[in-house]
Amino acid sequence: MRISAAGPAFFPVFAALHRECFARSWDEAAFAGLFDTPGTFGLIAVADDSAPVGLCLYRVVADQAEILTIGVLPQARGTGAGRALIAEAAADAAVRGAARLFLEVSVNNAAARRLYAATGFIPIGLRKNYYKEQVDGAMIPVDAEILAKNLG
Ligand SMILES: CC(C)(COP(=O)(O)OP(=O)(O)OC[C@H]1O[C@@H](n2cnc3c(N)ncnc32)[C@H](O)[C@@H]1OP(=O)(O)O)[C@@H](O)C(=O)NCCC(=O)NCCS
Repeated sequence: MRISAAGPAFFPVFAALHRECFARSWDEAAFAGLFDTPGTFGLIAVADDSAPVGLCLYRVVADQAEILTIGVLPQARGTGAGRALIAEAAADAAVRGAARLFLEVSVNNAAARRLYAATGFIPIGLRKNYYKEQVDGAMIPVDAEILAKNLG
């Protein structure tokens, strides 16, 4: 598995991966919209057979960076792709001048919270009722935890 930088030519790949990873997924137009903002970068994780298995988008503004999305195909999870995507995003954001990397995660997303704890993120706050998630057929408000990791 390797991690590669991925730009606008990969919008269809980003959209296909995102669809497999998230219940509410982003289409190609959504990725194009994100890349309209300067300082937005993409990564894909590529398996040994050259198939894309994960994506990560992040944005660097002055000395702060943010993970916009990260996902790994269900069949490729648990093999270190998420950890490798975070490591590359953090390293590249630091090279581009970021001192801190932020992200938001649903308090219900145990796998992602474990990944972030394992890669050095610390909880710094809570956004109440930030997401809406389907639970037993009903959409309910769910808090987002804000995490930060010092770079460099
Ligand atoms: C969260 C996600 C990106 C993790 O990707 P992954 O490639 O499976 O993660 P890794 O294999 O690199 O695991 C890294 C660490 O995360 C933790 N972890 C990952 N998945 C886990 C799970 N299902 N249960 C418990 N811990 C888990 C482990 O601590 C692991 O460390 P270890 O390798 O020392 O055991 C993946 O589950 C995913 O795409 N989920 C759906 C999309 C999503 O929720 N994205 C995050 C939105 S904020």
